Amino acid sequence: MPVIQDAIQIRPPRASDGYEIHQLIASSPPLDLNSLYSYYLLSDHFGDSCVVAESQGRVVGFLSAYRIPQRPKTLFVWQVVVNRALRGQRIAWHMLEELLDRYPLHEVDRVEATVNPSNAASRALFERLAIVRGTTIEEESFLDASAFGPAGNHESEILLRIALSATNS
Ligand SMILES: CC(C)(COP(=O)(O)OP(=O)(O)OC[C@H]1O[C@@H](n2cnc3c(N)ncnc32)[C@H](O)[C@@H]1OP(=O)(O)O)[C@@H](O)C(=O)NCCC(=O)NCCS
Repeated sequence: MPVIQDAIQIRPPRASDGYEIHQLIASSPPLDLNSLYSYYLLSDHFGDSCVVAESQGRVVGFLSAYRIPQRPKTLFVWQVVVNRALRGQRIAWHMLEELLDRYPLHEVDRVEATVNPSNAASRALFERLAIVRGTTIEEESFLDASAFGPAGNHESEILLRIALSATNS
């Protein structure tokens, strides 16, 4: 199990992590908070493609992802979050790396994620992935802000597509 600075452990989630993950997301705008039950299900049924960062027995980071059923070589990264006090220490990056280390390139050769236009930190994480892999980011509109209802309280979502090796670009 990878250990990074100050004994932060990066590992797959356990079903029992659901409550702390829910709390972490609740305190991390602008993330959409899903139901507590959904985080239990993600941790239990989708633990193979999700990651937590743990420090001193507490969940301080979470990344949810799944292989798109119709295109299983593509890993869709859904939510990524790091405790506010621990941001900027590459914890999100280490979670993403640990996740990608689980799959050989012939099983997963692409990452997709959606980002809001104003979320520089989220975009920077995926830009780093493209840089490290020597590839580029393809970008297209995914959901317009109007898809989230008339209240206008949700930004649009832009789809990022990143090949994991230059030969798959
Ligand atoms: C997005 C988030 C998970 C990043 O976590 P983190 O552990 O601080 O990120 P890292 O330290 O691994 O940084 C990864 C890259 O992003 C860059 N980055 C991190 N925060 C940044 C910011 N606020 N602005 C610009 N770039 C930023 C880092 O510099 C690094 O790139 P580099 O190594 O090339 O310099 C964290 O900011 C967060 O939890 N935000 C709230 C939830 C959210 O918006 N999630 C994303 C949408 S699902």
